[in-house]
Amino acid sequence: MPDKIRWGILSTGNIANKFASDLKHAEGAVIQAVGSRTQASADAFAGKYGIPNRHTSYEALAADPEVDVIYVGTPHNFHQEHSILALNAGKAVLCEKPFAINCAEAKAVFAVAQAKQRFIMEAMWTWFIPAVAQAKSWVDEGRIGAVRMLHANFGFRMDDEERGRLRDKTLGGGSLLDVGVYPIALAAFMLDKTPVSIQSAACMEPAGVDEQAAFLLKYDRGELAVLSSAIATATNYDAYIEGEAGMIHIHSPFWCSRRATLLRPDEEPLVAECPMPGNGMQYQALEVMRCLREGRLESPTMTHARTIEVMTIMDTIRAQWGLRYPME
Ligand SMILES: NC(=O)c1ccc[n+]([C@@H]2O[C@H](COP(=O)([O-])OP(=O)(O)OC[C@H]3O[C@@H](n4cnc5c(N)ncnc54)[C@H](OP(=O)(O)O)[C@@H]3O)[C@@H](O)[C@H]2O)c1
Repeated sequence: MPDKIRWGILSTGNIANKFASDLKHAEGAVIQAVGSRTQASADAFAGKYGIPNRHTSYEALAADPEVDVIYVGTPHNFHQEHSILALNAGKAVLCEKPFAINCAEAKAVFAVAQAKQRFIMEAMWTWFIPAVAQAKSWVDEGRIGAVRMLHANFGFRMDDEERGRLRDKTLGGGSLLDVGVYPIALAAFMLDKTPVSIQSAACMEPAGVDEQAAFLLKYDRGELAVLSSAIATATNYDAYIEGEAGMIHIHSPFWCSRRATLLRPDEEPLVAECPMPGNGMQYQALEVMRCLREGRLESPTMTHARTIEVMTIMDTIRAQWGLRYPME
């Protein structure tokens, strides 16, 4: 793999813009191409980020021989289809979270990646944010002793008419898949184990998706993760990891935090200031490029198994509510 890694951006929506903007902070990354359903969007996006190759279909982007890795930024329900499109064209893939609508779709994507011997990773960028990585190091070093609890919420308030994709059942709407995935993935990252029991409650909105929800994950040694998500309620965005010998505060907003604090009894708080340029999406891109240069098919941090585990937890939670999407 050459020093420069050429990215193709599949879709031109909200998060594709943030990702493309952050790639300038990822040394060695070049945005070579963009693919959109419309010429106007492809042209506008290409103009904004100085992208040489512009395609008016996702198929044409996937077939572009000048692209090494494709970033999939379409709504959740298209992640499976668009990841497989890119893999079948021989491209590596970074696919937005949630990786798919459900665990079966995620497994189908990983099977294609395996068959094609191509790299793929879920874009769970939180795991690569420096302040979050610092918190994880403190946990792994035993600085708070055995972890007992983790608290994290991700809820924001949007008016009914603003919610668009988020309340559209055909696009995999609802708070769980869109933002609930963050606290659930944070618990998976920090505790590094699979819950033995999952309890949840949701308030469903008339469109048939979850407007707000709470999740309680219990682990084999009695550890608890107390989590919530919402698309109609603004919540607190700090995360806390509480252990037998102290506590870690990942400062708001935890999913792209710039500061973590280690709090231990009878000690001064240890504050890790982790400034970062842009939105912070460049760190996951750096991980992808490091893996590609090392010839890996999977990130050793954001593993396929962890993605499957998080999808399985979300499947279980939705089954508890009886929430099925039309494509399932
Ligand atoms: N990592 C993060 O922080 C983060 C934040 C927000 C969202 N996300 C994830 O990223 C994905 C996209 O979210 P977003 O907020 O960027 O969505 P968005 O603004 O609605 O953009 C989605 C894009 O997907 C393409 N698309 C293809 N078929 C579509 C269809 N039938 N309806 C709508 N769009 C379609 C469109 O691009 P073209 O018109 O160019 O084809 C559209 O601009 C979601 O899975 C979401 O969970 C991640």
